[in-house]
Amino acid sequence: DKGNHRHFMQKEIYEQPIVVAQTLRSYLQRFEGQIVLPIPEFDLSGIRRVTIVACGTSFYAGMVAKYWFEQFARVPVDLDVASEFRYRAPVMEEGGLALFISQSGETADTLAALRHARSEGQTIAVVVNVPTSTMAREADLLLPTHAGPEIGVASTKAFSCQLAVLAALAANLAKAKGRLSESEERSIVRQLAEAPAAINGALAYDESIEAIAGVIAGARDVLYLGRGTDYPLALEGALKLKEISYIHAEGYAAGEMKHGPIALIDENVPVVVIAPSGPLFDKTVSNMQEVQARGGKVLLISDYDGVEAAGEGCVATITMPKVHPLIAPIVYAVPVQLLAYHVAVAKGTDVDQPRNLAKSVTVE
Ligand code: M6R
Repeated sequence: DKGNHRHFMQKEIYEQPIVVAQTLRSYLQRFEGQIVLPIPEFDLSGIRRVTIVACGTSFYAGMVAKYWFEQFARVPVDLDVASEFRYRAPVMEEGGLALFISQSGETADTLAALRHARSEGQTIAVVVNVPTSTMAREADLLLPTHAGPEIGVASTKAFSCQLAVLAALAANLAKAKGRLSESEERSIVRQLAEAPAAINGALAYDESIEAIAGVIAGARDVLYLGRGTDYPLALEGALKLKEISYIHAEGYAAGEMKHGPIALIDENVPVVVIAPSGPLFDKTVSNMQEVQARGGKVLLISDYDGVEAAGEGCVATITMPKVHPLIAPIVYAVPVQLLAYHVAVAKGTDVDQPRNLAKSVTVE
């Protein structure tokens, strides 16, 4: 039932404040200011390396997590798409945690990768949305998202819930490694607890995002740029757009532009720049200015300070609430999803059932 929404995708985008809150309930003890795992006795202290494997949008959630695990827990992280991981010869040492992320819990390549990692003696953690799925059953450490059934082929609410769980896992690992003080832990709990309200704040910009969808809808090619955890978001934005609007889109690390893709830039290629204000902001903005200097039309997604500082000269800006860097990927997922959604609606494509795609890819 779509309720009063036009598509399941739109409904699922709007469910995010609730389902992220629902998901976080299993991972945060708000009053104690503590981050916990659904299996509290699970000991992460011996983990020396994390291998993250997934496909599609779940892979991009894993890519954000890599930044977090390295930053908070100082644990080395390998990351790969499942279809590559299973056919190369990945080196997994003893004491490793292999982490699989999947909405459905049935994706064939991810499942095969999980079984391979098991045969290599890894501890298997699974972030999964369907609790009865095969991956959920095969996990040593089951980390559920509580997004509820996701019907739209384009993954939205599962992604934000995956990020919420992964942030909690990164903090737990940091804690187990003795790298998180009590006050740091309390502060992470506070930031994560603010995510649902911040997502609501982002949803409030829906109409202004709809109003600028035309900039993208007429394009043949679109680039998305970001740095740090906004780089996987750029990849996710490009995936969402190509998947439902059939417009060719690529995500790039902002700093990679001058190593090739900037050759594509002219007034016909809109460039979506994801750049919340923060330590990486100036770097991304200078890449953005290189694009503008070549006639590229920039659509900037930032917060009030960022738009104030760098919005001039952009064809459009989307202003997000100002949030802590930890929850920024969860919040900035929203405008990226809404933009793809409105472009697809403007183009009249089948938003919930895009051509050639299945909700769950159970063949390799
Ligand atoms: O069920 P999974 O999370 O394992 O699915 C992985 C991908 O097939 C999925 O994320 C796909 O890329 C989505 N259609 C993206 O919107």
